[in-house]
Formats: sequence, C-alpha cells, structure tokens
Amino acid sequence: MKFELNTAAASLVDTDCLVIGVFEQIALQGSAAEVDEASSGALQRLLDSGDIDTDWKHTTLLHGLDGVMAKRILVVGCGNTKKFTRVRYDAVCTSAGVFLHNHATTGAHLRLNELEVEEMSAHWRLRQAAVSLDRANYRYTTTKPLKNDDPEPLLGASFGATDDLHPALDEASGIAKGYLVSRELGNLPPNICNPVYLAEQALEIQADYENVSCEILDQDAMSSLKMFAFLSVGRGSTNPPRMIVLNYQGTGKDVRPIVMVGKGITFDTGGISLKPGPNMEQMKFDMGGAASVMGAFVTCAELQLPINLVCIVAAAENMPDGDAFRPGDVITSMSGKTIEVLNTDAEGRLVLCDALTYSRRFNPTALIDVATLTGACVVALGHHASAIMSKHDDLADELVEAGQEAVDRGWRLPLWNDYQSQLKSTFADMKNVGGMPAGSVTAGCFLSRFTDTMRWAHIDCAGSTWKWGGKEGSTGRPVGLLTQFLINQANSTPAR
Ligand code: BES
Ligand code: MN
Ligand code: ZN
Repeated sequence: MKFELNTAAASLVDTDCLVIGVFEQIALQGSAAEVDEASSGALQRLLDSGDIDTDWKHTTLLHGLDGVMAKRILVVGCGNTKKFTRVRYDAVCTSAGVFLHNHATTGAHLRLNELEVEEMSAHWRLRQAAVSLDRANYRYTTTKPLKNDDPEPLLGASFGATDDLHPALDEASGIAKGYLVSRELGNLPPNICNPVYLAEQALEIQADYENVSCEILDQDAMSSLKMFAFLSVGRGSTNPPRMIVLNYQGTGKDVRPIVMVGKGITFDTGGISLKPGPNMEQMKFDMGGAASVMGAFVTCAELQLPINLVCIVAAAENMPDGDAFRPGDVITSMSGKTIEVLNTDAEGRLVLCDALTYSRRFNPTALIDVATLTGACVVALGHHASAIMSKHDDLADELVEAGQEAVDRGWRLPLWNDYQSQLKSTFADMKNVGGMPAGSVTAGCFLSRFTDTMRWAHIDCAGSTWKWGGKEGSTGRPVGLLTQFLINQANSTPAR
C-alpha cells in the first residue's frame, strides 16, 4: 500500500474516509476537536446522543458532515485514556484497517497517529499505524482470487504528519513488505510451497538487491557436510530438502553478522510417528519460522540497514514412506553428536541442529532461530506471544524489548540445565524428545547443545505465526519482533 503525508486541517482533507480516534469521557482533542468545530458541533452532538461508540476498538461511520470535506468519517473508539497502551493503540489502528478493508473505500486519511500513547514517539506512532493498516489490508488471493462483489482493498492512505516524519513511513513500508513476504509464504498450500519453492523465492530476493547473495545447498552438498540429522527428516518425501543461505551485506565485509535460522518444514505429517488426521492441514504453517526470517531479511534489505545479516532456512518435508527415518534410528548430526530418534514428529529440532552447527562459520554476534517447534508452546502462550529462550540474558532482554516495541510480543521461558536430563538416551548422546513436562523448554535444551558458546536465542512461534478459527491463516509474525531487533542493532554502537 502507498503511504503519504498530509498536514492540512482534518476537516479540509479531500478523502474517501477520514479516520479519527475518540476517547471516552474526555473533551474532544486534536483533529476530532477541529472536525467538531468545522461541523458546528455535529461530532459532539452525536457523542452526546450516544450515536458514537467510544469503547475501545469500536467503530462508527458518519456520512456527509457539513463543513467537512471527507466523504465519510470513521470514528474509532479508544476507550479510557489511562488504559491506552501501545497494545491498545495498535488494536485501534488494526480495527480501522479492518473496517476500511471491508468497506467501499479505496483511500483514507488517518489521524490516529496523533493519539498520545505511553512515552512513544511521533515516529513510532506513525510507523506502527501504517504497518497495522497495511497488515489489516492483506488478503490471500493466490489460489482464491478476489471476486467482483468482494470489497476493494485500500490502495493507499495518508496520515496527518509533517514531512520530517517521512522516514517513519519508509520504515513502515519496509516492515509491511517483510510481513507480506512471511504471510504469503505461510498461507501458500504445501503442494506449491515446498523446499525447492522456498529456495526459488530466496533466489528472487537475491535478484532484487545488489548487496544480497544466496547459496542453495542440495542433498549432495548437505551430505558432504554430514548434515545427517537434517537429511533424515527429508528422506520420506519426494520433495527434496534444501538448505538456503541468504547473505545481506549492509556494512564492512569484516563486521560480524547477525544470523537468523528458520525452521522450514513445508509440511509436517509427523512422519512414521504420524499425526492424527484432524487439523493436519494446519501443518503447512510449519515453515512459519522460515517465512518470518525471510520476511525480516527482506525488510532489512528494503531499509538497507547498516548491519550484516545471514538468513538460513532449513527446508524439508516430513513424510512417512518406505525410505523415511524411523523411531529407534540413531543419527549422527553435523556436530558429530548422535541422536536417538524416539519420535519422527520431533523433526524441527533435527533440521535446526545442523543449521545451527553450520552457523558457526559466520561467527555471529547473535544467532536467533525461529521455529514452529512445539505444540506445547501453543498450550503455554496461545496465539498472543512467541516463546523466547536464551542462556544469554542480554540477548533475551533485547528480543523481549523488541517485541514490546513492535507490538509483536515474546515471553521468556527458562533454559535451565535442570531440564537437560530429560534428553538422556541409552543409545546415543541424546534423544530427540524430552517427554511431557515442559515440552517447549526441552526442545530448546536440545537445540542449545548445538550452539556452543555462540550468543544464541530460540524463538518458538508455533502459536504466534498463524491463527485458526474465523480469521485463520498466517499472521506473518514474528517479523515485527525480528525487524525491530535488527533496527535496534543497527542503531546501537557496532562491533561486539
Ligand atoms: N510442528 C510441530 C509443532 C506444532 C504443533 C506447531 C502444533 C504448531 C501447532 C512439531 O514438529 C511437532 O510435531 N512437535 C511435537 C513434538 C513432540 C513429538 C515432542 C509436538 O509438539 O507434539
Ligand atoms: Mn512434528
Ligand atoms: Zn514440525
């Protein structure tokens, strides 16, 4: 979506729809007060008669107000000023976006960014509003194109802010693009989006930016590297696995990069430890981690952040077959550590462990893997937060903080050594499952064994990256968290 700025008085903006926010029980402020004045008190009269809903996220559409240029005015309720947090602000912007998307408006002018939110800057408020609007405007159309009677999406929007805030719109466009890449990949069906397809998308990303290079490793290349944990997972599928390495150079060649690793299981049947039938189609979202690191990578390239970034996608399909790996198998990972497979459905950690070992060669300042790793994570945190695990408190703090800033929140779980004993095996260095207690943590503990002394964090996005029910589908998360982390890294003093 195209974003613009317009500093005219709200009542004088010629638009399909003017969007303003109104708090409950306080006098009209800013653009709302200005519109009220221009309309000779019409807004206040509608509020007094109870025709405008000021409850948080509730919307009221007004038509043809005398003295106001806009064809329509969308009033979004903001609730109590004291409760108006960034989460509430973000939801108000989303609410406006959903309304505009579902109605006959193709353009809008928004004044939501003038609402005071905690201590957040004008830059943040504008950026966040634009990103939320763009996300609310997304519709999946690849295998189900829009029909004539579907409401038209917004084509563009303008915001009330001065030109010096233009960088906030540029940042928003970059972040929105990252979300879009992630979401679209997540929503694609598994018969289209297989490991080779992901590799092709990475090559297209490479073609789009001068300072991006891409390397695709096939089975032979992975065999030479002894990535037998990774390769085991793909063995049951006729869609061959791929390891994808995207490299972005935004600063000096010798500056150590940040490395992001994504779980790219393009479909997870569970393998020989077959999952139950109901809802199995949801396991097309098992590449949500890969989609989000690719999305965050695109944002980084769009914004040309002054950092170096490597994005590694471990792509495979987990299928049952005569050649599939089986429970009881002992496999040797690239690190040389052996793994007893007790459950072929705990496959994510097997592709990731080799990708983490591979990451060593980049000598990263931070190594972050993102994965739809455990159902237990959905049980623990639902769809609201990603789980963040790290032995490096500073890195965990930076990620939690980035999530709060982007309103794409993560919540920390422990990675204490106490849990490691659940992975003991009689026949190998470890088993690939830790039993029922703390399933997300033991998955993290498994990964920790392949990260040596690297400054590493694990993000389980099993709940956050997609939703079921009415508005089912990919959310694109945690692109917001990841991109905020990268932006913050770019803004902080270099060289660790
Ligand atoms: N991809 C799943 C995890 C998952 C489940 C994500 C539900 C989103 C929603 C993962 O590969 C898996 O199957 N994990 C198993 C691990 C178990 C066998 C230790 C799980 O969570 O049941
Ligand atoms: Mn699985
Ligand atoms: Zn999986």
